[in-house]
Amino acid sequence: MAKVLISGGTGSIGNLMADFLHRQGHEVGLLSRSRQSDGTFKTYQWNIKENYVDPEALESCDYIIHLAGAGIADKAWTAGRKKEIIESRVLSTDLLYNQVKKHKTPLKAFISASAVGYYGQVTSDKIFTEKDKSANDFVGKTCFLWEQSAERFEELGIRTLRLRIGVVLMEKGGALEKMAQPIRMGVGSPLGSGKQYIPWIHVDDLIGMFYKALTSEDMSGAYNAVAPEPASNAEFTRILARVLKKNLWLPNVPAFVLKALLGERASLVLKGSRVSSQKIESAGFKFKYPSLEPALENLLAR
Ligand SMILES: NC(=O)c1ccc[n+]([C@@H]2O[C@H](COP(=O)([O-])OP(=O)(O)OC[C@H]3O[C@@H](n4cnc5c(N)ncnc54)[C@H](OP(=O)(O)O)[C@@H]3O)[C@@H](O)[C@H]2O)c1
Repeated sequence: MAKVLISGGTGSIGNLMADFLHRQGHEVGLLSRSRQSDGTFKTYQWNIKENYVDPEALESCDYIIHLAGAGIADKAWTAGRKKEIIESRVLSTDLLYNQVKKHKTPLKAFISASAVGYYGQVTSDKIFTEKDKSANDFVGKTCFLWEQSAERFEELGIRTLRLRIGVVLMEKGGALEKMAQPIRMGVGSPLGSGKQYIPWIHVDDLIGMFYKALTSEDMSGAYNAVAPEPASNAEFTRILARVLKKNLWLPNVPAFVLKALLGERASLVLKGSRVSSQKIESAGFKFKYPSLEPALENLLAR
């Protein structure tokens, strides 16, 4: 049994991760800005701006899974929100690094979330691999700074991983609910050109990847966390409608409408390239849901 501390463990991925690790027999602690706990897991408080982490959180801690961060798509990208998105990831990682260093916590691994946005909001035929550089746009820069901060754990001799996560498909919350809603109401359609790729991943596979990262001592560095078979926005919409047994009849939502509604954030849904899952597969990871249709059937039938 190991003690695993999950920052942002109260979030949609963190909740499921905590339950999974608990079922595997591990002791799970959550690191949260609020002290509230649902009683299942011990919740430790931290305050990033005040450089505070409950010292008990790191006591006998074997692994940190770092998921905390202000939602990228949740609010308009004002200058203040952009700062919060970056600082909630970078300063939180720095804080964990400083605490681990100060207390000489003998961590076995530090596993940080990152995002495929590392490669930029672009639609192209290129298949991005972990060897590609980060992009110069807002999300690319955010992921670069986030990962750069995580990499500092290597200086402490701690095995460090960065999982560049794609669009996580889960039953509740996240992108799938938002995509399914208009289709269920009979008004769904692809977005923009529909040609942009959606590098998706089923949440069970994502949790499996984090667990693989935690338990494989030979794994370190960056790994893309996406399914091997991506889909364009048009294909995704068509398959989702089929699984929901609904018809699509409307034309694509024009890009200008989404830009008017979402501002700069529209790039998150209007752009997208393919991302390779080769590296994690070569490390021995086996996907439960490599293809989209069975992944959607599983989630929407739950
Ligand atoms: N979901 C996806 O499709 C997806 C895709 C790519 C990457 N990711 C990354 O994976 C991580 C987890 O995603 P998720 O979907 O589970 O996110 P989520 O549901 O929004 O949860 C993130 C957690 O981070 C904490 N948090 C929020 N704002 C914060 C702030 N300003 N400062 C510090 N902590 C803050 C919150 O915990 P407390 O309120 O308890 O402090 C929250 O529960 C995120 O970093 C996200 O960027 C997710």
